[in-house]
Amino acid sequence: MTEIAFLLNGAPVRLSGSSPTLTLLDWLREARGLTGTKEGCNEGDCGACTVMVSDAEGPKALNACILFMPQLHGKSVRTVEGLTAPDGTPHPAQEAMVAHHGSQCGFCTPGFVVAMATTHAQGRSDHDTALAGNLCRCTGYAPIIRAAKAVEDAPVPEWLRAEVDAASRATAEGSALRPATSDDLAEWYAQNPDATLIAGATDVGLWVTKQLRDLAPVAFLGGIKDLQQITTEGASLRVGAGVTINDLMAAVAPKLPSFAEMLRRYASDQVRNAATIGGNIANGSPIGDGPPALIALGATLHLRKGNIRRDMPLEDFFIEYGKQDRQKGEFVEAVTFPTDAPNLRCYKLSKRFDQDISAVCGCFNITLQDGKVSAARIAFGGMAGTPKRAQGAEAALIGQPWNMETAEAARKALASDFEPLSDMRASAAYRAAAAGNMMIRYYHDLSGTPVNVLEVAP
Ligand SMILES: Cc1cc2nc3c(=O)[nH]c(=O)nc-3n(C[C@H](O)[C@H](O)[C@H](O)COP(=O)(O)OP(=O)(O)OC[C@H]3O[C@@H](n4cnc5c(N)ncnc54)[C@H](O)[C@@H]3O)c2cc1C
Ligand code: FES
Ligand code: FES
Repeated sequence: MTEIAFLLNGAPVRLSGSSPTLTLLDWLREARGLTGTKEGCNEGDCGACTVMVSDAEGPKALNACILFMPQLHGKSVRTVEGLTAPDGTPHPAQEAMVAHHGSQCGFCTPGFVVAMATTHAQGRSDHDTALAGNLCRCTGYAPIIRAAKAVEDAPVPEWLRAEVDAASRATAEGSALRPATSDDLAEWYAQNPDATLIAGATDVGLWVTKQLRDLAPVAFLGGIKDLQQITTEGASLRVGAGVTINDLMAAVAPKLPSFAEMLRRYASDQVRNAATIGGNIANGSPIGDGPPALIALGATLHLRKGNIRRDMPLEDFFIEYGKQDRQKGEFVEAVTFPTDAPNLRCYKLSKRFDQDISAVCGCFNITLQDGKVSAARIAFGGMAGTPKRAQGAEAALIGQPWNMETAEAARKALASDFEPLSDMRASAAYRAAAAGNMMIRYYHDLSGTPVNVLEVAP
């Protein structure tokens, strides 16, 4: 068993012999007695288990309940117990939560304080977004947000700044459990084709915490830097499978703002810091948010098995529910998509605005020439067993003048493109109606009518 080494609240820890799927939350609470880190949902939803993890990319908030110990190798971890200065001075976030009455029962408070301290160390002030992954059921969010704002002007404590700086220079060697390059992964996976690959563990974590599955053998992809590259290729971006959703969001924001805004509503800051686009594609989920946007953009998927590489249009990867065009021992290496798509719009519909899986996710991308639709790509999540193109609606648009009549025709055509399911998120009838309404919303959006769901219009 490979050794795992990291810093916990400033002190070095070395572990060997533990299960690779032991979670940080279980280890902290059971092996270390650090019970300040709370277990609420044990599935990444509530933020009660938030810890600060620093590495070459700086400090990040992560959910300890779906973070496996090998993912910490070479990093620095701070729990709520480690937020006070060595001389006992509380962190400014702790002081502010007291001063602004940000806590009642207190169960959520350690998670909020750690998330806030992380945001503060990152120099951010987008508190609604940064804290959307932390649930509080009694205080109410206004005092908590007031506390977060109050911390903004306080300096980052010197001891924490020094730790974050040191973590940015730390390096970690590879091993079979944690390959260091995609060449190493390709070789190992070809020889161990039944192994489970673990990227951000935001899906796989739940296989362990909720389904109690034994996943061995496993390989962690988090140390493979060459899978985490984003490169510009002409008017396209090539995004490595290991790029996190937060990094993807930042990369697409300048040219594809609607895609970025949709990703801002993908789970929470904690989950987006871990979840990768490769995992979001490879899991084949019919309700993943990345694939509909990427399919609407005409993305190409890059797969690799050993030294053999193949490319395909992303939509061809999703064969049917639970079945993808991926061979044993083959992994997702990257995805490439054009960024010159000014008419791309992505609409996510979920029961909660933040931190919720889509009931329907519709992504629309048309090209207009002389007032007519010359090309159309429309893709939906939540409407079939896979993320899927709306070919009938596309056909109803192409060659037609771009007006409300055409949008209506496309809305009607959508009815024959999909036979959605009813489940706990939405009924089939609701999904079908919502998808059609998104088509009309798209028409209004491109016509300049405000369609932001956060703006309440009479
Ligand atoms: C609280 C919570 C909220 C969520 N909200 C959303 C949401 O709003 N929208 C959304 O789309 N998803 C959401 N998810 C689901 C999840 O975050 C995504 O599916 C995520 O992108 C998975 O990426 P990962 O890196 O964590 O994958 P992992 O969990 O590590 O892996 C997922 C699957 O992909 C495989 N895999 C990973 N990388 C590769 C690779 N390079 N090649 C081949 N196979 C690979 C793994 O073996 C596994 O089968 C949520 C999850 C949680 C816990
Ligand atoms: S316990 Fe709820 S997010 Fe971890
Ligand atoms: S203070 Fe009770 S859940 Fe937040």
